[in-house]
Parts: sequence; structure tokens; C-alpha cells
Amino acid sequence: MPTKATSVRRKPAASRAGKRAAAKSTDAAVVPEGYYRDLVWNLRNGVVAITRDGRIAVMNEIAYRILGLKPQTAEIGRPFSEVLKDVPDVSRILASAFEVSHLPNRAELRLKRTSKVIGYTLSHVRDARGRVAGATLFFKDLTRVEQLEERERLRDRLAALGEMAAAIAHEVKNPLAGIEVMAGILKRQLVDSTDAQVILADIIKEAKMANTIVLEVLDFVRPIRLQVEHIALADVVRDAISLAESHVAKGQVQVRVSLPDDLPPIQGDPHQLRQIFTNLVTNAFEAMTGGVGDVEIVAAALAGEEPAPGVDHAGPMVQIAVADNGPGVPPEVMDRIFSPFFTTKPQGSGLGLAIVRKIVDAHDGRIDVGTRPGGGTLFRVTLPVKSQHELFG
Ligand SMILES: Nc1ncnc2c1ncn2[C@@H]1O[C@H](COP(=O)(O)OP(=O)(O)OP(=O)(O)O)[C@@H](O)[C@H]1O
Ligand SMILES: [Mg+2]
Repeated sequence: MPTKATSVRRKPAASRAGKRAAAKSTDAAVVPEGYYRDLVWNLRNGVVAITRDGRIAVMNEIAYRILGLKPQTAEIGRPFSEVLKDVPDVSRILASAFEVSHLPNRAELRLKRTSKVIGYTLSHVRDARGRVAGATLFFKDLTRVEQLEERERLRDRLAALGEMAAAIAHEVKNPLAGIEVMAGILKRQLVDSTDAQVILADIIKEAKMANTIVLEVLDFVRPIRLQVEHIALADVVRDAISLAESHVAKGQVQVRVSLPDDLPPIQGDPHQLRQIFTNLVTNAFEAMTGGVGDVEIVAAALAGEEPAPGVDHAGPMVQIAVADNGPGVPPEVMDRIFSPFFTTKPQGSGLGLAIVRKIVDAHDGRIDVGTRPGGGTLFRVTLPVKSQHELFG
């Protein structure tokens, strides 16, 4: 169907100008002074507009925020190449507005300065006679959307990997059990041979270890079904520390816990959440060489996240930091530690953090890792106070 927009666009410039003039007089009657400035300043998209001679005409607050620049009021009229010198990628897009014939619409760009991903549209500003008087860049921060998509992709990958791993693990379980039983029978039959006893004891030990790994894999790939309750994090953390202490000898390691009394109870699955902190604290104990050091667990309520543009408000959250003063995670393996089976430990299965991430994801939370000021590792788990899942019981 021929669209109305097309026919409107083809109208002669003079007729457009007449219409604009008429619109202007009505605008002035109903729209208070400064309205358009406030409108642009408060938009939830970033806007940067430049004049034909390359000066900033408009730059709103969110534009400064997304580009990682400090809002300045005195920048209107300054050359955009100066104002945007720290974000050359954006400056280049604006500069191209008067050179290319086809302006990008809904394009994406990762900003080098902040690593943020923006989605943008570049358009011309035309005056009443249809002449290009400037250009406008509209953009939106897509970083959070990207992260969610990435998480979705990872979930799909893990689901596919999980099905395969579950099938293999299931197949391996029976022969393993057979090996263990038969080695046991042989061991009882060969009581007189010391050599055979040693070898068979080894076979049984190895088969048991392989079985433990198989069980862990099965546990990991099983989809999580949360049984959500109102829970006090203090109990969860306390139980997790005792469990971690039962897994690893903590030696001289001091554990300090700081949970504010007014920390809101959160909605989550207590067993799964306990697993998160057991795994993190176990890793912290294991990282302490010589059994000397300290582990700190600090929780704080976060009022609610700054909503990313276009993304719903995340609501109140609780953040629990688990820090140790061990050697830290080497930078070259940092982006692999959450991958299943990545381990630097001779006896590790490399599933601890993969399970942690899976549980955090199931709770719609976030986990990040960094270096603790002064050395060591800092894991931060951020969980929503209110769950999207149904409360249990
Ligand atoms: N607190 C930490 N300090 C230093 N490195 C860590 C810390 N936590 C984890 N890592 C690194 O991340 C890797 C993966 O940890 P993850 O818990 O997934 O597996 P693992 O501890 O090796 O084995 P598993 O937990 O299955 O017994 C570890 O092998 C270690 O290299
Ligand atoms: Mg571990």
C-alpha cells in the first residue's frame, strides 16, 4: 500500500515551510518557553545535535552519562570535535553526517572508552527550506540488553552441553559401578597377594573418584528448580561457612562476617544459596597457601539499581561480597573461571564456580569477580530481594 508518509515527503518545500510556520504559531501559544530544551534534556535516549558548521547545538544529560563525560552547560556552541574528543568513535559518526549519503539507522557500536554498547540513529536536521542545517545522533545504552542476550546464549549453550553431558554421565555410571564391584570381589579373592591388594585398592579409589565426578556433572547439568522461601542470609552464610570448613581444613584462616541487622530477608532457595557461599568460601580457603590469611563476608542492601535506559527498574537488591587475601586469580584465566571444568587444582573438578553462576542466574542475580584492594580475590553476588519465582509453601 502506498504510504501517506511517502506522499507527504514529496510535497514541495514551500508547502512544508508554510505548515511549519503555522505549527510554530500554535506551538508558541500552548508550549511554555524552554519546554523543548527540557524535553530533550529529560529524554531517556542520548541526544547530541550539531550545527552545519560542527558546533554542539544540543547534548542531553543521558548522552553525557552514556558517553562517560561530565555534564557541562557551557558546551553549547563549542566544536563537537573538542567536546567529544574523549569519545572519538562518536565524534567520527557525527563527522560523517555531512559526508555520506545514507545515514545509519539502528546501528550499533561498542564505545572504546567505556566498553558500553550503544544503538544509534543518525539523522539530518533540515530547515524550513529543506536544507541540511545540522545532524542529530540519537542513541541508547544497549549494554544491559547485550548482557542479557549473552546470558541467554550461554544458557542455551549450557542446556545443549548439559543434555550431552547428562547422557554420557549416565552411560558411564553403570560400568564404573561394575568396575568397583568387580575390583572388590577380586580384592577379597586375592587376600594373600600384597601387590594385588595395593593395585586393587587403587582401582577402587579411582573408580570412586570418577563416580564422584559423574555425580557432580549430573548435578550440574540438572535444571534448577527453585523452592523459593523468605530467607535470612545470616543463616545461609553461617551454614555455608560450616560446610566449607568440613570440606577443607581452614588452618589458621580467620573468617569475618559482617551482615547488617537490618538486611532485608530475601526470596530465594535456601539450599541453593547455601551452595553458592559454600563454594565461594571453599575456594577462598583453598586459595590460602599455608592456611594463613583471612576471609571476609560482607553484605549490604542496595536501594535499587540505576535503571538502564529501556530496561525495567531492577528493584531492591542485596549484595554479598566474599573476599580473601590469597594470591588472587591470574588475569589470563579470569574470564574462564566460571566455565564448567576449568580448574587449576590437581583435585578440582572445576564445577564449583559454574554451579555458583548457575544458581545466581536462576535467582536473576549477578556475580562478578575482581581483585580485592590490597591483594586477593573479591567475589560479589548481587541478588534481588524479591524473586520472580513463586514462593514455596
Ligand atoms: N578465591 C580464589 N582465589 C584464587 N583463585 C580462585 C579463587 N576461586 C576460584 N579460583 C580459580 O578458579 C578456578 C575454578 O574454580 P572452581 O571453584 O570452579 O573449581 P575448583 O575450585 O578448581 O574445583 P571444584 O570447586 O570443582 O572443586 C580455580 O581452580 C582457581 O584457579
Ligand atoms: Mg571450587
